[in-house]
Amino acid sequence: MKFETRAIHDGQAPDPRTGAVTAPVFQTSTYEQNSIGNHRGFEYSRTGNPTRQALEEALASLEGGKYGLAFASGVAATTAVLQLLRPGDHVVAGDDIYGGTYRLLEKVYRPWGLHVDYADVREASTFAGAISPNTRLIWIETPTNPLLKIADIAALAVIAKEAGAWLVVDNTFASPFFQRPLELGAHIVVHSTTKYLGGHSDVIGGAVITSLDDEFQQLKFYQNAAGAVPGPWDCWLVLRGLKTLAVRMREHERNALQLARFLEKHPAVERVFYPGLPSHPQHALAARQMSGFSGMISLELKGGFAAVEQFVARLKLFTLGESLGGVESLVCYPPRMTHASFPPEERRRRGINDNLVRLSVGIENGADLHEDLRDALA
Ligand SMILES: Cc1ncc(COP(=O)(O)O)c(C=O)c1O
Repeated sequence: MKFETRAIHDGQAPDPRTGAVTAPVFQTSTYEQNSIGNHRGFEYSRTGNPTRQALEEALASLEGGKYGLAFASGVAATTAVLQLLRPGDHVVAGDDIYGGTYRLLEKVYRPWGLHVDYADVREASTFAGAISPNTRLIWIETPTNPLLKIADIAALAVIAKEAGAWLVVDNTFASPFFQRPLELGAHIVVHSTTKYLGGHSDVIGGAVITSLDDEFQQLKFYQNAAGAVPGPWDCWLVLRGLKTLAVRMREHERNALQLARFLEKHPAVERVFYPGLPSHPQHALAARQMSGFSGMISLELKGGFAAVEQFVARLKLFTLGESLGGVESLVCYPPRMTHASFPPEERRRRGINDNLVRLSVGIENGADLHEDLRDALA
């Protein structure tokens, strides 16, 4: 079955008891057991819940994996994957990553005993150069947050395999509609389902998808043992989002491409970062491993922070806020918002300049969005 069909049906067959077409919200903490040690598949909702199970099956199907696990946030999903490691293990992470992932690596896992190095996410060879005998995991985003750089997933999968390490891809920016890292050789996919998968800025959630049996067992054990699970309502909201993922992603991309073309030519704009533009230095790689370029655009404005402040204040439809991937357009200032956890000098070293703005292009009418940007830049 094709993606759009699986998004609506996988994990979500009509409820066998009532025939309900929509997966019910099983708002229950516990379940009656037939006798001691004999239950009907569910014992306690931290361990398992039918609404969560429906979501986990749907997520696995959309990413082309055997197993899906839902978590209370994207950060909780990231934590679960990092718990596959032990103190003394080494991680090579891409240099352009979500500030919260950087904070987790630097402020939680480095003190815990993890060794962390960063490599240029655009150059697979820099990851090969950073591998050491204790490297167990390569962590990348692609496209990256916030500079929309592209990592060569297939090339990194080969490097990871040779090193006996896992390649983990945070697929939040692309969504499985446009990119399926497991099919390109990645071992584990992570999502902030808060973003495109939920799609309506009304839920916080995360997910891990893999086809590896042993790793899944460890992750599932950790999910129950540490307990950062989403409640059934949150799972239901993400499930509802998944059903329209394909139609939303097409619209996000259509609007984003049109706006990126406009911004690229605008005299007030210094630079546009959008992998769908032929001028993006990695456009060819993006076109090879993605079936579309998603809805995130970053840009640098001429005139520094003062120009950014003015631009943001003038926007009417693009709302200033954290997060991305919802139906409504958002604007974010990474240096002080999503990437504030990077020390300023480290942030600039990584190319996140003071004139950088990130747009999450929604699915409003494209002409209205164009007008909003045009007026704010005038
Ligand atoms: C690429 C990426 N990964 C992970 C996360 C963390 O997800 P959450 O906020 O759901 O914990 C975010 C949040 O912005 C993100 O942008």
